[in-house]
Amino acid sequence: MLNRRRLLALGGVLGSAAMVQLSRTFSAGATEPAGPHHSDLDAMLAAEAPAGPSVAVDPFTVRMPVPSELRPVVSLRDRDIYHLPIQPANVELLPGVQTPALTYGGRFVGPTIRASTGRRVQVYYSNRLDMPANVHLHGGHVPASHDGHPMDVIEPGAWRLYDYPNTQQGATLWYHDHSHHMEAEHVYRGLHGFYLIDDEDERHLRLPRGEYDVPIMLRDAQFDTAGAMVFGPASGRTTTLVNGRPQPYFPVAARKYRLRLLNGASQRVFRLNLGGQELVQIASDGGLLPAPVPRTELTLTSAERCEVVIDFGRYPVGTQLVLADATAGPLMRFDVVRRAGDNSRLPDELRPLPALPAATVERDVLLNFGLAGGVTVGMINGRTYDPTVTDFQVQRGTTEIWRVTNGDPFPHNFHMHLVQFQVLDRGTSPATVDDAGRKDTVFLPARTTVRVQATFGDHLGKYVYHCHFLDHSARGMMAQMEVVA
Ligand code: C2O
Ligand code: CU
Repeated sequence: MLNRRRLLALGGVLGSAAMVQLSRTFSAGATEPAGPHHSDLDAMLAAEAPAGPSVAVDPFTVRMPVPSELRPVVSLRDRDIYHLPIQPANVELLPGVQTPALTYGGRFVGPTIRASTGRRVQVYYSNRLDMPANVHLHGGHVPASHDGHPMDVIEPGAWRLYDYPNTQQGATLWYHDHSHHMEAEHVYRGLHGFYLIDDEDERHLRLPRGEYDVPIMLRDAQFDTAGAMVFGPASGRTTTLVNGRPQPYFPVAARKYRLRLLNGASQRVFRLNLGGQELVQIASDGGLLPAPVPRTELTLTSAERCEVVIDFGRYPVGTQLVLADATAGPLMRFDVVRRAGDNSRLPDELRPLPALPAATVERDVLLNFGLAGGVTVGMINGRTYDPTVTDFQVQRGTTEIWRVTNGDPFPHNFHMHLVQFQVLDRGTSPATVDDAGRKDTVFLPARTTVRVQATFGDHLGKYVYHCHFLDHSARGMMAQMEVVA
């Protein structure tokens, strides 16, 4: 339980908005139903939370589900309209165990929204939690008022319409909570789902489609012995979940699959391999690469996406292939269970990247933890996130280079809202193969610098940029820009 002293100390870390929420929740005591987040306020004091034992599950005993696709409530000539409640729910993550979670529509991996380039999507979100929430479309080029800015929340019991123009090219995006100081815990407890943009221009490539186009969310969690999720230090999150299940198997046909990998963990670097077998990368955060790139290892940090084609037709029926992480070990297993026809292709060329106009502005961004008033806070350029401050003012239409530095002896990453960027280089080294394509999130290993270039072409208003280790952004490692005319 939180006592008053700890609550005050927490206030120093969290700032006033979260304090109001915490005091509300805290003082409500027995009069409120015990929502899944209540038990966990202590854990926001991550350093003080003991890492309890996790439940052990035998590997490859549960089947990997594919998140269901959300059906529109209504489809109009120019748009599809959806409804999704933000609600607590009990979900089965570990076999036979009900785990309290925060969900979109009752699903731990929210339903997939399938959008198309050039066709609008509107989503009504109703907030059935007892605290504010909101929704950010990660990787989306959307107006500021629909971006899910941390201070722009849906109050409990209220609803909100988000309007997405989908003017960008096809890409694997995702939606997740972004409410101020609570994003880390909210996303950890399940407020995440896929948002896929299909693109007519990709059709002629004949990449695998339909049931052979599979979104896969990789993340981690810590469970206590009763199967409840513990929101504590990231080091305690030793259970990996693939589409919400621990080390699942996935039966596949002996043919090509398009797999859309997302690192949905709040604070994790996955280094993926398929036991030395080939995964052919076709896309990163912002959509297709110019050409396929054969890989045997992929690095994927929190919020990054990587699309690969695996041709299971190269293996006899009966083959089992394990997707593993270099440190966590096996994540899931693909079981080749049947033969199947395959008229999909993996062309030699995919799509050229959009032009990159010359940059006229350069900026420096420094990420690190520091002390403010005796507590450790996340900082960008020496300041913890202050929603009343505009850190950078950006002229619409401008192309800029941002030199982003991790000042800490441990990893961060860096995410910008509104735009996708090109990674130019890493200090004196060239960009890595993991930096390829148009990115919106990029890895920042300990004490390194990365230069990224972006054009701010679309919308006006305030957008945040931050470390996407959400435990860090929730502690203030975030800042905001205002795009002005
Ligand atoms: Cu994926 Cu600011 O977020
Ligand atoms: Cu960080």
